[in-house]
Amino acid sequence: MKRAFLIMAAITTLAAPAMADEALAKSKNCMACHAVDKKLVGPSYKDVAKKYAGDAKAVDALAAKIIKGGSGVWGAIPMPANTQVSEADAKKLSAWVLSQK
Ligand code: HEC
Repeated sequence: MKRAFLIMAAITTLAAPAMADEALAKSKNCMACHAVDKKLVGPSYKDVAKKYAGDAKAVDALAAKIIKGGSGVWGAIPMPANTQVSEADAKKLSAWVLSQK
């Protein structure tokens, strides 16, 4: 009984931050153009994570691109600037995107 409770608590602790960041992505409208595991207007977050796996600079580079927008990495369609996103939130989102597997 106690053990089951501890396992549940551990799972909740692990899952909560990831869900918080997905909620942030939804609230910033990112999910209008992106999905975690399929291409919509923009690349899937899993594809982004795969592309930058092992790239230590990716968190900062992608955070900057999230705010400024840009094109040419995934195709001709540009990502518009997301100026409603603060630098701190952009880093959170970028780290969350890069953690998708
Ligand atoms: C209007 C549609 C749209 C919205 C809204 C949008 N994106 Fe994008 N996103 C794109 C497109 C299109 C690309 C591909 C750009 C390219 O090829 O360089 C992209 C690329 C990206 C990339 C990869 C960049 C790279 O250089 O590899 C990340 C990370 C990303 N978006 C995160 C976000 C986040 C986080 C948000 C919410 C704040 C967001 N996007 C909102 C369309 C969008």
